Amino acid sequence: MSNLKILVRESYELMSSRAASIIENQIHDKPDSVLGLATGSTPLGVYAEMMLKYKAGDTDFSRVRTFNLDEYYPIKKADAQSYYYYMRKNLFDFINIPDENIHIPDGEATDPNTECYTYEEKITALGGIDLQILGIGVNGHIGFNEPAKAFAAATHHVKLDASTIKENARFFANEKTVPTHALTMGIGTIMRATKIILLANGAKKAETLRDALYGPITPQNPASVLQLHRDVTVITDRDAGRLL
Ligand code: PGA
Repeated sequence: MSNLKILVRESYELMSSRAASIIENQIHDKPDSVLGLATGSTPLGVYAEMMLKYKAGDTDFSRVRTFNLDEYYPIKKADAQSYYYYMRKNLFDFINIPDENIHIPDGEATDPNTECYTYEEKITALGGIDLQILGIGVNGHIGFNEPAKAFAAATHHVKLDASTIKENARFFANEKTVPTHALTMGIGTIMRATKIILLANGAKKAETLRDALYGPITPQNPASVLQLHRDVTVITDRDAGRLL
């Protein structure tokens, strides 16, 4: 029997507020929680709610530590498409998290492999991730763990799938300017998180999500590995949850 808890909400806003409440409770229970954070369009609503909770005085982020799932490589932090920039503009500039508590794989690192090794070590040194937020790619990727022959154990340097480059081209001038590589937590890194929230919205995620949650566990659909985790809450809007 699966341990997955599945919550299908009527709208993107309700999906986002449910996830934000779980994060808020996590921080109340453990003010120095280690949060794993995602980028992309999916979690924007959650971050907007988190900002509101901070403004209303409901959540204090002063002791929270964060690790982002991934970053393009190479990319400058000042590049408006970097995940560093995204996190600043969509969350960190608006809450009271200290800079030293924020961790994002460094797209400017000279040696990507050393950066990945160091990143993984930092996560371990802080006791691992308490609550990891995930989106899901149309190809089933979590972080930038693309469909592959095997699950990757730790943070690593990856070549992006043609389908991911195509999907993400909407954020860039054109497909040719999307970076071809990235640094990403591994499937092992993600699976070591104590709790996981998987978010999905929009009709184009419905089939991938159904296959990931009910289909065979395979690195060809990386999110399917979540079936083996003991504490995953899947929260979707109506369209993405249509086949669950
Ligand atoms: P999206 O991306 O939130 O922009 O749909 C999700 C993902 O690729 O993980």
